[in-house]
Amino acid sequence: METVDLILHSASQLCVVPGGDMPQRGTALGDLGIIEDGALAVHNGRIIATGTTGEITSQYTATRFINGNGRCVIPGFVDPHTHLPWAGDRAEEFEQRIAGATYMEIMAAGGGIMSTVRRTRQATIEELVAANLPRLRRMLAYGTTSAETKTGYGLNTEAELKQLETIMALNQVQPVELTPTFLPAHAVPAEYAGQTEAYVEKVITEMLPAGAAWMKKNGITLFCDVFCEEGVFDLHQTRRILETAVSLGYRLKLHADEFAGLGGTKLAVELGAVSADHLVKTPDTDILALGEGNTIAVSLPGTPFGLGHHEYTPAQKILTAGGALALATDCNPGTCWCESMQMVIALACRYLRLTPAQALVAATRNAACAIGRGHEIGSLEPGKQADILILDVPDYRHLGYRFGTNLVKTVIKKGHVVIEQSETL
Ligand code: NIG
Ligand code: FE
Repeated sequence: METVDLILHSASQLCVVPGGDMPQRGTALGDLGIIEDGALAVHNGRIIATGTTGEITSQYTATRFINGNGRCVIPGFVDPHTHLPWAGDRAEEFEQRIAGATYMEIMAAGGGIMSTVRRTRQATIEELVAANLPRLRRMLAYGTTSAETKTGYGLNTEAELKQLETIMALNQVQPVELTPTFLPAHAVPAEYAGQTEAYVEKVITEMLPAGAAWMKKNGITLFCDVFCEEGVFDLHQTRRILETAVSLGYRLKLHADEFAGLGGTKLAVELGAVSADHLVKTPDTDILALGEGNTIAVSLPGTPFGLGHHEYTPAQKILTAGGALALATDCNPGTCWCESMQMVIALACRYLRLTPAQALVAATRNAACAIGRGHEIGSLEPGKQADILILDVPDYRHLGYRFGTNLVKTVIKKGHVVIEQSETL
């Protein structure tokens, strides 16, 4: 009998979330591949086999056994859109919005993203690491084992590179694996107010090349992202930035259709972006484009919720068109300070009308594909990294159904237990 590092057995439901390295597209979304009384064998941080408890324990023995004890086991959540790292908070803007100010009005008056930029520029890498570690710890405790994180609060070359270095440093000191995105075109910084074209020129001729040099030095391929929005970067400016990024070796993401449908989603598909994110005001023609291309639609329902808006991603239309849908938190200090993919699932079930099974796939497999890591994470298939959650519930449908409390009991990252909630609260 083969001896492995770990056998996790007696799960009421082992949700494999099958599909190799591809997203579950369109109305095929929601295949959990449930194995009842399930078990899996882990060796060297990877899953080597899944099956029933009887099947696995008759083929393998292990140095460590974990008894699932009738609990549901799922892949670690992948959060494919966050804005870590940042400094400070914007609690006062939350109050202003409750009093009636809009997000874009606050931004136009010099607050919003620019307020976080001022705080982030002042902080050292050490201060940024210290401020963002507790956020990552909460993400992990709520089941996120991998996440995308962005720059975009530097908005000059030096501060943008400082954010990249912070992401690298955070990757070294805690278990949540971070995939970095370069977002110098997140806003027009105050020193370029009224000169958007000049800032776009700087992004293209100075900042993107600096990020490309950073990629070369670190052996990492970055995503490049742009906030394509009315009053921020228009479609033409977005195209110029993204086309330059492609020529410099970046992969693409795009903030599109958050407040206005400018055609960003269609552009993202045309340029072969890995994902197009937000997608609230997405025009029907752009939805059809999602069905025909490989760009993943990343919905961030925490953001309209965080802003007190009532319009969400037209998820059903995207699925009917055959698009691939993923979920993310958008965790950021302005629109949505939420570290919990469980909360996002709860919102998606209600406002996107996803079933818990669809939301779970969108938060794992499809989310992994949205950061180009579908071959490694997001499912419990043999060969994948052993990023596993044991939920303190017997049935996956408690995800979405219950909200505001943490249903994750145990978090396993690369085969190691990194969180163990000792008592049921
Ligand atoms: O995705 N839309 C642009 N960026 C963020 C908000 C960032 C901020 O307000 O600090 C978002 O919602
Ligand atoms: Fe965002």
